[in-house]
Amino acid sequence: MPETPENIQYSQKVLEHFSHPHNVGEIPDADGIGNVGNPICGDVMRLYIKVKDGRITDAKFKTFGCGAAIATSSMVTDLVKGKTIDEALEVSNKAVVEALGGLPKIKLHCSVLAEEALRAAIEDYKKKQTNK
Ligand code: FES
Repeated sequence: MPETPENIQYSQKVLEHFSHPHNVGEIPDADGIGNVGNPICGDVMRLYIKVKDGRITDAKFKTFGCGAAIATSSMVTDLVKGKTIDEALEVSNKAVVEALGGLPKIKLHCSVLAEEALRAAIEDYKKKQTNK
């Protein structure tokens, strides 16, 4: 059965992270910035990371998007803090969705945006390292 507004259910965790997102903002001296957008819905996400000795010490985001995009941005930034770059690369959209207690199928693409933003920020960090 296709999902309709009546049968779309968000988990308590998604609602919490949407209402009170963690790590909102910018890191002015970020070591990596990931900018991604979904051309279909038009939502955009910018994710900042601060890295010290190969470990992500801080992560923040700015998302102009739907509730699920905000909740997944909040969760992905929580999940990667304290991780090494290699560990952070293992954080998939599936892991973000699981940590949020699930997402309605119709909103799964929003979690892909979070994974892409993280990967783009790590790519940017790596590029800056090689250009140093
Ligand atoms: Fe676009 Fe959620 S609807 S990211």
